[in-house]
Amino acid sequence: MADIRNIVILTGAGVSAESGVATFRGPGGLWEGHRVENVCTPQALFRDPELVHRFYDERRAKLASVEPNAAHRALARLDQKWPGELLLVTQNVDDLHERAGSQRLVHMHGELKSALCAACGNRTDWEDALPPETECPDCGTPALRPDIVFFGEMPYHMDVIERALARADLFVSIGTSGAVYPAAGFVQTARHYGAATLELNLDPSEASAWFGESRMGPAGTLVPAWVDSLNRNLG
Ligand code: OAD
Repeated sequence: MADIRNIVILTGAGVSAESGVATFRGPGGLWEGHRVENVCTPQALFRDPELVHRFYDERRAKLASVEPNAAHRALARLDQKWPGELLLVTQNVDDLHERAGSQRLVHMHGELKSALCAACGNRTDWEDALPPETECPDCGTPALRPDIVFFGEMPYHMDVIERALARADLFVSIGTSGAVYPAAGFVQTARHYGAATLELNLDPSEASAWFGESRMGPAGTLVPAWVDSLNRNLG
């Protein structure tokens, strides 16, 4: 433990499950009978923008009624106390990590509370429903879409994430099924650069075999216990 200085943490939908945010796969993972892979694509946005916008409108509206849980709060405490480098990479598009107080954070799959102009590329903070063909406040084109990385699009912040993985002494994955790349491959990158690897998840994931250690259970219990053990070592 003494030689751990730089930490990269990857979170997925499982970290927000105990806050009442639905995960994508597993029971209840379908939305209006659609698999997420069929809604979150540029092709779906082109074919049926009403459907895709409604999917994200429902999720954005849900944010008003959910709160960070013990796992989000523990990760924020770690961020505030950890003296080494730390990067929290979330695949989640909710805002629960920042509401808990995390600062060294990147959203690799985008954010519900942001709208992206497909014409000029500018981003706008967005709180309410986002109907198709909403005008961009910057360029005026009716081309605002949810600022979400769809299947087949390039995740955000990959340069920052790859640099952090190359310098990591510890890579920790929390509440993700390991089904979606490139995030599912971060464990292999971190191992390649010599990091220790730890998985905290409710069930074994598709990536479990890659981790040096896997602990199974709810994030709201496992994450505070892990953070407390790190903080004890800080003294
Ligand atoms: P998934 O829904 O694929 O997986 C959630 C994982 O969390 C599963 O492995 C569950 O076992 C685990 N889990 C559920 N409840 C938990 C709890 N209380 N504590 C700990 N773990 C729990 O979600 P992601 O892996 O995040 O992409 O999905 C990856 C990406 O696929 C998402 O970011 C999203 C989706 O399509 C985009 O929107 C671009």
